[in-house]
Amino acid sequence: MAKVPIQFVLNGDEKAEFVESGSTLLKVLREKLGDTSPKGGCHQGTCGTCSVLVDGELRLSCLTLAETCEGASVTTTAGLAEGGVLHPLQRAFQEGFATQCGFCTPGMIMAAKALLDRVPNPTREEVVDAISGNICRCTGYEPIIRAILSAARSNSHHAA
Ligand code: FES
Ligand code: FES
Repeated sequence: MAKVPIQFVLNGDEKAEFVESGSTLLKVLREKLGDTSPKGGCHQGTCGTCSVLVDGELRLSCLTLAETCEGASVTTTAGLAEGGVLHPLQRAFQEGFATQCGFCTPGMIMAAKALLDRVPNPTREEVVDAISGNICRCTGYEPIIRAILSAARSNSHHAA
């Protein structure tokens, strides 16, 4: 298959690769760039665990062609911690037992980040809506919703 050059920024680092034309962003992130934080679940857009941000927009990396990310800025959960300090969402998930097997967690956190970047103090309904494309088979969702609300509160507390 034809290889195409692609350049984008991944979690703040410039990346330049040749990828097979038609490769998904998920495949390139995991197999070429070694960022295994986005998971491959359904590979057809229904589970949400592959979610990443592309130029700040929530995207399913299993349905996104890597070529369409040329010049973009891609953020994954691997890029959220700064200097070894967990992002408030990561901390809230950990402290609130919002992660059990952990398979859904990267997608949940990226969906939550996309929401909090847009709506810093969301209502419970807005949180439920924001994670409606993400499937969790372990937690029953309640701890996840509580963790996102708690991260939002701690963010606004820091901003105050
Ligand atoms: Fe992308 Fe399930 S792997 S939505
Ligand atoms: Fe296992 Fe959500 S923690 S799928």
